[in-house]
Amino acid sequence: MLIVHTVTELQQLLQSSVEQKKSIGFVPTMGALHLGHLALARASRGQCAITVVSIFVNPTQFNNPDDLRRYPRSLKQDCNLLLATGVDIVFAPNESEIYPQPDRRRFHFGRLDKVMEGKYRPGHFNGVAQVVSRLFEIVQPTHAFFGEKDFQQVAIVRALTEQMGGRPLIIACPVVRETDGLAMSSRNALLTGVQRAHAPLIAATLVRAQAKTATTSVAALRQWVADTINADEELEVEYVEIVDERTLQPIAHWHDAQHPRLCVAVYAPPVRLIDNIDLKP
Ligand code: PAF
Repeated sequence: MLIVHTVTELQQLLQSSVEQKKSIGFVPTMGALHLGHLALARASRGQCAITVVSIFVNPTQFNNPDDLRRYPRSLKQDCNLLLATGVDIVFAPNESEIYPQPDRRRFHFGRLDKVMEGKYRPGHFNGVAQVVSRLFEIVQPTHAFFGEKDFQQVAIVRALTEQMGGRPLIIACPVVRETDGLAMSSRNALLTGVQRAHAPLIAATLVRAQAKTATTSVAALRQWVADTINADEELEVEYVEIVDERTLQPIAHWHDAQHPRLCVAVYAPPVRLIDNIDLKP
């Protein structure tokens, strides 16, 4: 496994693979890796000739400076974990490699980024689109792997890829969970012991909600999810939405979507956690 920090080094390493039209799998990350990231790296290893993992905490996608400051960073440990998965290249650039000039591009995703994360974290998806498009230009992957914990991000990246001409192929991988159900996230490392003990209630509530769709209206189920999570003194709901998984638009009735997806954002202050579940799998 090679670890490189500059665009020039990375492109030199990839040149022959690009020329030979080998498949290049790409897993963009912000580091603080967990088993969810490693599952993406393994999926890429299984499907592509070469796997590149990037580690870059992208400042432009943080709408809250404290969140950026607090974001966990552990490059050495991340590289050790990746070594065991057999990835070929780790690309860990500094900010000037990714943004030699300030990136002033504005992306448009129609209604996709007006809801949920887009609504509560203004500018977040523009920053994601900036860094992902830049990384795609640098790495030139044939395939890119994203986790479904960030369900809306996957939709945004698919829309971005369409705007960029259809490449790379976006592969969405299922949420990876701790044994108690908590969705794996780099932010879990920031939870206190007490918060960590309470956080599995989020996933448990999503699973219970799945069983209620036959007997509960969409509006009543949203309210029940919010009330159930808010009843825990360590957790505060930011939003609960039930959306059509294709359009990400909120639905009013179950028949409005074949696959309604329940999406939540919850604070275990100051840590913000998100999760989602297919309500009619
Ligand atoms: O999901 C993430 O970790 C980030 O949003 C991504 C895709 C690496 C872009 O910075």
